Amino acid sequence: MVKRINFSNPKLNQIRLEDGAAHSWYRFVLSYPPHLVQDYIKKFGIDYTHKVLDPFCGTGTTVVECKKLGIESFGVEANPMAWFAASVKLDWNINPDKLLSNAMQIVERANDVIENEKILRTMPAESQKVILKNSISPLPLHKTLVLLEQIQNLADKSCLNHLLLALASSVITNVSNLKFRPEVCVSKKLKDDAPVVEAWLSMVNIIAQDLRQLQMCHSTPAIVQKADSRNISKSLTVNSVDTVITSPPYPNEKDYTRTTRLESVLLGFIQSKAELRLLKDGLIRSNTRNVFKVDTDDIWVSKHSEIQRIANEIEQRRIELGKTSGFERLYHRTVKLYFGGMAKHLADLRCILRPGAQLAYIVGDQKSFLQVMIHTGSLLADIAQGLGYEVVGIDLFRTRLSTVTKEQMREEVVLLRWSGQMPLNSYPFSDKPL
Ligand SMILES: C[S@@+](CC[C@H](N)C(=O)[O-])C[C@H]1O[C@@H](n2cnc3c(N)ncnc32)[C@H](O)[C@@H]1O
Repeated sequence: MVKRINFSNPKLNQIRLEDGAAHSWYRFVLSYPPHLVQDYIKKFGIDYTHKVLDPFCGTGTTVVECKKLGIESFGVEANPMAWFAASVKLDWNINPDKLLSNAMQIVERANDVIENEKILRTMPAESQKVILKNSISPLPLHKTLVLLEQIQNLADKSCLNHLLLALASSVITNVSNLKFRPEVCVSKKLKDDAPVVEAWLSMVNIIAQDLRQLQMCHSTPAIVQKADSRNISKSLTVNSVDTVITSPPYPNEKDYTRTTRLESVLLGFIQSKAELRLLKDGLIRSNTRNVFKVDTDDIWVSKHSEIQRIANEIEQRRIELGKTSGFERLYHRTVKLYFGGMAKHLADLRCILRPGAQLAYIVGDQKSFLQVMIHTGSLLADIAQGLGYEVVGIDLFRTRLSTVTKEQMREEVVLLRWSGQMPLNSYPFSDKPL
């Protein structure tokens, strides 16, 4: 029997004031809120004797929340910018006074250089090709590059990562021309100038304030590894995880590398198109911009009739509508690759789960591909069941208005349980040797 809880109040999406510390240092728009993690930790009866995993940990909501509650956690994230953000958000063993005094030194030197340097600095040509055009105007970019250089030159080793994350965060929010609606785009009104140093310092102040609050609980182990969750058994030992709370990508056109592009380039995580391609290779194929000819994850669902039916319907509709662009031709393939990648992840995950482990996967229904409905939660539940998981229920977390169809789309929490028993056929939706 599927138990449904109605969480559709939009306020439930926001971070509660009392939950803010560390989460707000750097965050994806529309990440699930910390109190959702609290709700499922409570519901699953998790305490300090257990270990929680987030295999798609993004900017770290699950792992940060677990650490605050004194529960050991482990995150896996393939995008280096998100991995960096989540890792820094877990490091609370920094002296806040030292962080602030170090920042003041940097401010003084950066302001000095900004005042005296007459030629505007810019990014290398290769890096410029990677960011969205007009992401940042020339003068704000110049000031940002000066500040970045001073951080790299003058930061104390213990403070460096926090100071860099503050820069990533303040550049996106206060300096760049980027808007999140919720997809990232460039504003029509480009900023001539921006308070680069001031915005950064105010972010450093927030971090220092939070650190004062968080230091008393810094000893709980929490690690985030930069890795691909389709091969998660390489990251953790057998039978070591009690709970999974996670939000994987959905099969839509959202490109997580695009959302984080400017700060990834500024901090040196991506410096060329070749590096971007490499990064995309490690991600679940959830959008047409990270699908490649050589991809094979679709093998994992080649015998799943409903996924094949949806993919065929998308392709049929494309042909009927006469849509011929390269991206439109990839829609049906993206759906198969997405669910195939998730099937691969769920299959590989089984050996690191303790028998009785409880899992919560937060995913949303989608109609992004020529308006063919994809019930992501139900399909993932079905794949999981075939792989030997028990489907405990599907809760409604919230509904979201689709900007394209004006329909309310469901975001759901798929609740699973791992009994410890492999099914007779370990790979039920695949008809090729793996
Ligand atoms: C919906 S977001 C997670 C947001 C997260 N709950 C948070 O608090 O920010 C999904 C994340 O999965 C990551 N991801 C996609 N494919 C991955 C893979 N194969 N392995 C690990 N992480 C992956 C993306 O980079 C993205 O950060």
